[in-house]
Amino acid sequence: MKILKSIALCLSVVSLTACGGESLDGEVLAQQKGCVGCHGIDGKASVPSYPNLNGQWERYLRLQLIAYRDGQRVNSVMNGMAASLADEEIVALAEHYGS
Ligand code: HEC
Repeated sequence: MKILKSIALCLSVVSLTACGGESLDGEVLAQQKGCVGCHGIDGKASVPSYPNLNGQWERYLRLQLIAYRDGQRVNSVMNGMAASLADEEIVALAEHYGS
């Protein structure tokens, strides 16, 4: 019963991290969240009007995503993209693109 309970708990947690303490895969996340459509799979933008993310520091990217999410940095596209990101998702995405 204990095991069943913890599985149920695991499934009820929206964040993917919770189960077994595995960290999120930023590359997979970038595809799931649609970031790759504009920033590419490894941070090389698809068109010049979208910024390249590769070559940036992990810390910089992380702080930008938090700023977009919290509305401190204003951009209609990125505010929408970042609005639903959890802290751990931001960490994983910044680590992926910042590496
Ligand atoms: C529809 C295209 C589009 C999508 C999808 C998109 N972005 Fe962006 N992104 C942009 C544009 C345009 C900017 C520049 C916005 C600005 O001027 O502030 C930007 C800026 C950024 C920046 C700041 C870069 C810098 O140099 O300061 C980060 C970090 C970023 N995006 C990450 C992401 C992540 C992570 C996702 C997925 C959750 C994502 N983006 C999805 C278009 C997009």
